[in-house]
Amino acid sequence: MRKMGWAILVLALTACGSGEAPPRPLTAEQSAMLSPSDPRLAELYRDSCKACHTVKDSLAPLTGDRSLWDARWAQGEDVLLAAAIQGKKGMPAGGQCFSCTPDDMKALIRFMAGREEKQ
Ligand code: HEC
Repeated sequence: MRKMGWAILVLALTACGSGEAPPRPLTAEQSAMLSPSDPRLAELYRDSCKACHTVKDSLAPLTGDRSLWDARWAQGEDVLLAAAIQGKKGMPAGGQCFSCTPDDMKALIRFMAGREEKQ
């Protein structure tokens, strides 16, 4: 019985602990409307990541779609950064951004994973 109580508490906390509604999937069109607020990042994003990350057929998680990103985000930022730099399956090494620094990549990943505002 005590164990049940904990399970319910944990469920309740994950469901509404942050006060956020569960993430909703975006359409490719909604995803394509998003852009980083920083102008330099916006340019890097437009010239590289956007080509795949707003196209469902590319199998890349859509930018801003937390229903697709949250499980990846849970791996930790360092793991995501390493995957972006080294490449992973359909994801080319460096995301085809040849002028992105590691900090740029980190900021781009935050933006794409729907976490830009919480820096
Ligand atoms: C040529 C297409 C393409 C481009 C360009 C691209 N990506 Fe990706 N990306 C993918 C695909 C496909 C995946 C899904 C890989 C998988 O199956 O896990 C992915 C996955 C990712 C992931 C998740 C990795 C993980 O471990 O879950 C990150 C982070 C990422 N991309 C960042 C970027 C960034 C940042 C850019 C721009 C600098 C970029 N991508 C450009 C295709 C692309």
